[in-house]
Amino acid sequence: MNDSRLHVWDVPTRLFHWTLMLLVVLQFASGEFGWLDLQWHLYTGYATLALLLFRVLWGLVGSDSARFASFLRGPMATWQYLRGGERVTCTHNPLGGWGVVLMLLLLLAIALTGLTSSDDIDVFGPLAAHLDDATVRSATRWHHRLTGVLPWLVALHVLAVLVHEWRGERLIAAMWHGRREGDGSAPRIASTALAVTVLMISALAVSLMLWMAGD
Ligand code: HEM
Ligand code: HEM
Repeated sequence: MNDSRLHVWDVPTRLFHWTLMLLVVLQFASGEFGWLDLQWHLYTGYATLALLLFRVLWGLVGSDSARFASFLRGPMATWQYLRGGERVTCTHNPLGGWGVVLMLLLLLAIALTGLTSSDDIDVFGPLAAHLDDATVRSATRWHHRLTGVLPWLVALHVLAVLVHEWRGERLIAAMWHGRREGDGSAPRIASTALAVTVLMISALAVSLMLWMAGD
């Protein structure tokens, strides 16, 4: 059968998305609801941080559709899209692109403040031991504040995706199998070897940070 859809999302970006979702759920299960020991929050936190680093690097060197340069548009293009303009590329639309960056920045800020957070009892982020009490308390407060914003942003994200679905764009299926309707040529997909290398660099960077922190 002839499939007219373009292969837009590479395997690494799709794996990134659904793994990130799972890890964020685990972060809330351990950090907020106490369903898992808080110690697990640190382990899954390191994995989340490594995954976020991976996505930032993949946004610079990965497949065309995953690159920030391919979906970050200036204010004029974003405004035109908002006023009913058509989607111009098969990657994130201009508004969605900024949403993606906002989510990544928020998650990075949460993960980084987490490193210097503590429950003041027996769980300490790896960098907390190197800082004075006031700094740790302030970082922990920020970790709480920022984690409070995340569910709202995720809700907005899911709502936006559902609006597109309702208008006939199969975005969720595309994030699952990678293919979506689109004009023009398919984006260049980067090699799996490059994705594995970038993931290893991200994991090594987090491990190095933990090693230097003496954890
Ligand atoms: C904790 C929950 C979630 C987080 C943190 C999250 C985060 C993200 C991020 C960062 C991206 C950008 C992907 C990339 O370019 O790397 C994205 C895209 C996307 N997400 Fe989520 N997501 C979450 C939950 C969901 C859920 C539940 C759905 C399904 C209803 C969903 C559907 C999508 C879709 C369809 C896209 C692609 C949008 C497009 O085509 O422009 N996400 N998400
Ligand atoms: C994106 C990743 C993360 C998310 C979504 C997240 C989420 C949360 C949430 C929801 C809480 C509970 C806040 C509250 O009770 O109001 C929490 C607490 C905590 N988080 Fe995270 N976190 C993340 C990453 C990290 C990392 C990387 C670390 C450290 C390695 C960390 C260390 C902590 C600590 C020590 C607490 C306990 C603070 C307390 O009990 O007052 N978190 N986190």
